[in-house]
Amino acid sequence: LAAAGAVAGPGLRTTADAAPATQTELVFPTGFGWGAATSAYQIEGAAKEDGRGPSVWDVFAHEPGRIRNGDTGDVAADHYHRYLGDLDLMKDLGLTTYRFSMSWSRVLPTGRGAVNPKGLDFYHRLVDGLLARNIRPVVTLFHWDTPQALQELGGWENRDCAKWFADYAHTVFSAFGDAVPVWLTLNEPKTVVDVGYTAGTHAPGKRDRQLANVVGHHLLLGHGLAVQALRATGSKSHIGPALSLSPTYPADDSQAAKRQAVTADAEENRRWLDPVLKGRYPQDWLAAQPKDAPVRAAIKDGDLAIIGAKNDIMGVNYYGATTVTGTGARVMKHPTSQATWQEIYPDGMFDLLTRIKRDYGDIPLTITENGMATTNPLQDTDRIAFLRDHLAAAHRTIQAGVNLESYHLWSLMDNFEWAEGYTQRWGIVHVDFATQRRTHKASADWYRSVIASNSVSQ
Ligand code: NOJ
Repeated sequence: LAAAGAVAGPGLRTTADAAPATQTELVFPTGFGWGAATSAYQIEGAAKEDGRGPSVWDVFAHEPGRIRNGDTGDVAADHYHRYLGDLDLMKDLGLTTYRFSMSWSRVLPTGRGAVNPKGLDFYHRLVDGLLARNIRPVVTLFHWDTPQALQELGGWENRDCAKWFADYAHTVFSAFGDAVPVWLTLNEPKTVVDVGYTAGTHAPGKRDRQLANVVGHHLLLGHGLAVQALRATGSKSHIGPALSLSPTYPADDSQAAKRQAVTADAEENRRWLDPVLKGRYPQDWLAAQPKDAPVRAAIKDGDLAIIGAKNDIMGVNYYGATTVTGTGARVMKHPTSQATWQEIYPDGMFDLLTRIKRDYGDIPLTITENGMATTNPLQDTDRIAFLRDHLAAAHRTIQAGVNLESYHLWSLMDNFEWAEGYTQRWGIVHVDFATQRRTHKASADWYRSVIASNSVSQ
């Protein structure tokens, strides 16, 4: 890093080195959380160990043709057995916050009823290990792995699932108390709805848009009931959802494209943000649903008051922009990554986060995910550029007065990328899945120096 130079403004240091180019060092506020994220099914493995019950993802991944190369999360990055080494790896990077998810069916093998003490014990060891290293545990309760026993009762298609989820949440809230300062209820309900229930390429592999919207409502209700469950324990811990959000832009200046960008915004963003932060569905989104859409009947009196009760934090998974034409077709105006759905646009993070403050109020925000897949195994300079540009946008967002308290990159290490199996690598730490050896990529060393200096050089 360049030596500190004259302070050029709040949070900005400019250093004129011997080299003609001037480097700007973007200094983050003291206490800004530097993190990384993972999820249970993507890293843990140990699918059948210590009493863990199956989830929809175990079943789905074992169905022929569902996952690239027939991969499964049976072993994944074997984190269940290697968590101590992984904790040291986090410490070595200097992480101050770590987002992971608990596997519902590891804690409650059939989703309800008796707790599996060994499952709970694993998460106690993990949480204690984080706290011992001064890393803040940020825990997601649901990262897509619905217990299979509940799926057999309809899973999230069944309204009761919201209640089962809140009971599970209550179990872990009581077990962990203040040891977990931040809880995230749902991870990306939109992906469950769009990919699990509409495209059918994620578990449980259904293709039914109307049913998908019912599932979406039940997920939101589960979120609201889990928030209630936390409050009922008297906990001081914070809670909120982790939503995948994407600012929408017209592909050109036409009125039609601008209108389509608004429609896309309802689907991408408002359809999730409005219920949680305003206690209502967006009018235009509701109006676009068929008259006999089952989601209309699924929304019962009182639901939106539960869903819209106060949250302490909003988690944002930001991967990129959404650009639409006048016919509503999605186009890629900006570069993409190995994940072809990703339209890389760092400024979109600024647009999105400042917009949340403007339209929804000054709720504390955390980036719960941000990252890219790249084919460069160790010299991932493209990932470094991606992270640098997004952190610069995050810095700008903070300068603009948004209460962004932390950043969790996706992901700490290579892992099971759902339908893509192990073919997409998102980690800053490389995992050799044959030996389970972990190796720093260039981005890991880069991130370590960012954290050490609390700043990003641009
Ligand atoms: C969002 C999901 O939450 C995570 O599980 C996934 O691996 C990343 N995006 C990358 O696709």
